[in-house]
Amino acid sequence: MRLDQILFSQGFGTRRLCAGLIAHGEVRVAGQVVDDPGAEFDTEGLCFDVGGQAWPYAEKALVMLNKPAGYECSQKPKHHPSVLSLLPAPLRERGVQPIGRLDEDTTGLLLLTDDGALIHRLTSPKHHVPKVYEARCKHPLTPAMAEQLLAGVELKEPEGKYQRPPETTRAEGAEIVDGTLLRLTLLEGKYHQVKRMVAAVGNRVEALHRSRLGALALPADLVPGQWRWVDRALVLGG
Ligand code: URA
Repeated sequence: MRLDQILFSQGFGTRRLCAGLIAHGEVRVAGQVVDDPGAEFDTEGLCFDVGGQAWPYAEKALVMLNKPAGYECSQKPKHHPSVLSLLPAPLRERGVQPIGRLDEDTTGLLLLTDDGALIHRLTSPKHHVPKVYEARCKHPLTPAMAEQLLAGVELKEPEGKYQRPPETTRAEGAEIVDGTLLRLTLLEGKYHQVKRMVAAVGNRVEALHRSRLGALALPADLVPGQWRWVDRALVLGG
């Protein structure tokens, strides 16, 4: 593929802008400046750098973010900045979006991609992709609460909200880590699911963190606000 076409496909702006970056000597392949926009490269395993920053070629982008509190997953955030503002411009430009949503005050593992089929694969209830959350609760947790969560609870809408018909849901795993810390594994992704499940057993979530999605665990060295490329096999497993 032509180098200007490669940059264009990776979100570096219009073809004209990409050709300009190349002609101005901003782009290196294998450490060498390439200033011919028409130079051809095999994209398989290709790494290039633009303005000193390294980029792997990816037909579809998949990245993880350690989401800090105070960011919204919406593309049009209302009260807080969007998680997209934590990503570099080329990723935003190529239209990556969060795979499922975390609340503004939830922290931890968030995946983002421009691959619509992957979004469907990871969010469709049919595929039962496990998600692991750690919920710090207001009141001490009891074995009876964990048992109720595993058996199934009825979710209610927050007070004052339009009341939808009641939904029931169950946790795949519910482990009391310490007096008020609950580790929940869910196979669905309903609106405010963890908070509503915990409320349904008479407790209250005070802080929520997601530590796993599918086969992928949030790496301990990815600090809040940082992102990293992800190999899709690490999420889908096998
Ligand atoms: N459940 C919630 O209540 N909030 C989240 O952000 C994720 C799951």
